[in-house]
Amino acid sequence: MARINDSYLKLQAGYLFPEIGRRVKAFSDANPAADIIRLGIGDVTRPLAPAVLKAFHQGVDDLAQSDTFHGYGPEQGYEWLTEVIIDKAYAPLGVDLKPSEVFVSDGSKCDCANILDIFDLGNKVAICDPVYPVYNDTNVMVGRTGEADEHGYYAGIHYMPCTKENHFTPEIPTEKVDVIYLCYPNNPTGTVATKAGLKKWVDYARNNGSVILFDAAYEAFITEAGIPHSIYEIDGAKECAIEFRSFSKTAGFTGVRCGLVIVPEALMGTTAAGDPYSFNKLWNRRTTTKFNGVSYPVQKAAAAVYSDEGWPQVEETIKYYMANAGIIREGLTAAGINCYGGVNAPYIWLETPAGMSSWDFFDKLLKECHVVGTPGSGFGPSGEGYFRLSAFGDRNNVETAVERIRKKWGR
Ligand code: MLT
Repeated sequence: MARINDSYLKLQAGYLFPEIGRRVKAFSDANPAADIIRLGIGDVTRPLAPAVLKAFHQGVDDLAQSDTFHGYGPEQGYEWLTEVIIDKAYAPLGVDLKPSEVFVSDGSKCDCANILDIFDLGNKVAICDPVYPVYNDTNVMVGRTGEADEHGYYAGIHYMPCTKENHFTPEIPTEKVDVIYLCYPNNPTGTVATKAGLKKWVDYARNNGSVILFDAAYEAFITEAGIPHSIYEIDGAKECAIEFRSFSKTAGFTGVRCGLVIVPEALMGTTAAGDPYSFNKLWNRRTTTKFNGVSYPVQKAAAAVYSDEGWPQVEETIKYYMANAGIIREGLTAAGINCYGGVNAPYIWLETPAGMSSWDFFDKLLKECHVVGTPGSGFGPSGEGYFRLSAFGDRNNVETAVERIRKKWGR
């Protein structure tokens, strides 16, 4: 029999969100009349913007005529989309990118996982705790780690706890690490980094020859001025950072699938022999070998996100979700629950009432309030005692959920 990849056996539990789905299904099957409100996985609920939908339809119609038909496109994305991304998403931030540095993809989850292909297994990786589980689990899957200890920390990974004591801000490692995952605005804690804070990471990475994997999937939800939307707003970041962005949350593409990776040409690694080598070249090689590009109609729809007609519509939806975030944050704070995030991010990170464990609170909330959230411990050991609520729900549902929680736990 063929050998399996044993590294998968080191994973301690199923992936977080399917596990939540399983528990919710079991409850709902046993209680079919329960009106369950889902604020667990960060999945959007508002429809696509009209201009985006129009472009999407047009893209499909183009496929119906031989003179506008499209087969394989460039693996890295159509140039008319990469140019829109450069002009509309990066140039206004003062970030200058070349088309060859932009790679259009089918979403950030895959990108965050696939990027590991171009890094040697011997690299030391640093991960925040709590964290978007994909960063941790994919490092386990590729065989970079040993077994997990009793807390759930895998041998070989440098974990950076983020708790209220350090304002959910990871400490710069005192040892040398090669690859650092940062996510801002942060999933799950909803916190943001300042320019000064990111500069410390860029300085560290440049001094140590490290690469920062910067997940900016939630940048469109920043409401306060002065908060960086891209790591490339920091001088020198092009020499030490790869950035991931997504249309999923920004424009409601969780079911449509489109994201992007920026791999600057200035970013270099070293070969086993110690010679410098371009990560951009490697990622391009990987992309052209393992990917055939995002579908043409989806790229048409993505380009319309940044159109003059599309962007104000997209912004309306972002404002809707952020108003939800305010309702959750303020409602629960008024009820005496300590809440974080929710100002520049669509997630509210709260301390569980009465010191309950994250999963106990999950079960109680589901059974007694019929509200689904995400247990903080599912994002890592330092998430124990915390809980995440997503602001991506329908307004009525969000208001009802807050009301139910206040009635149950409010002071
Ligand atoms: C989350 O809830 O953390 C996200 O929706 C997961 C994802 O984007 O893959």
